[in-house]
Amino acid sequence: LAPQDLAGQHLLVTAGPTREELDPVRYLSNYSSGKMGYAIARAARMRGADVVLVSGPTFLTPPQGVTLIPVVSAEQMRKTVLDALPKATAVVKSAAVADYRPASLSTQKLKKSDEDMTLVLEKNPDILAEVGAGKEGRVLVGFAAETQDLLKHAADKLKRKNLDLIVANDVTQAGAGFDVDTNIVKLLHADGHVEALPQLSKDEVAHQLLDRVVELLKQREAK
Ligand code: C5P
Repeated sequence: LAPQDLAGQHLLVTAGPTREELDPVRYLSNYSSGKMGYAIARAARMRGADVVLVSGPTFLTPPQGVTLIPVVSAEQMRKTVLDALPKATAVVKSAAVADYRPASLSTQKLKKSDEDMTLVLEKNPDILAEVGAGKEGRVLVGFAAETQDLLKHAADKLKRKNLDLIVANDVTQAGAGFDVDTNIVKLLHADGHVEALPQLSKDEVAHQLLDRVVELLKQREAK
């Protein structure tokens, strides 16, 4: 049995991609598989937490004992996260939320013509930034998937979104990022210190991450 060091805690985890609909048969999305977020939800449950998993579309089997709330778009994810937030003592946002959505949703399938076509996109809300702005003592963990200037971008997000910890991964590295079962991450803390973890299974990364969350929750309680 895993240590029950998250007993009594309420973890809100997001996972997977979002899908932004264009018309009844098309959408914009990304390559996120949801594996990292599902691993975190499973590990947190094993360690005694009450877990709500808000997930975009994936092909994964939901972990046992976890409350799964499936969503499709970023807007739906936002509503669901904000509804579940009051109970949460820690929030881990591993979802790859689409930053933009088509500005208009066609109710009918778009027809092709001989012309090129321009797609207008509008900005999606940044869910994590919103959660960070109303943090209220929660432990807040974000993810940063980058293809360049990883640490700089991750440190910037940590600050801007008011996080305690950000998990940075270079998605161009073999054995890291989307769809694979392993990950190579750096953990950036709010006080500026950075830990580089070796290549680990996503389950092991999840447990390492939760070790830090337990530590942060303890610091909160000591205050
Ligand atoms: O997309 P970005 O690299 O800024 O994502 C960093 C973190 O912010 C991730 O944890 C992601 O889940 C979260 N995010 C979000 N809402 C968005 C975009 C990102 O919650 N619209």
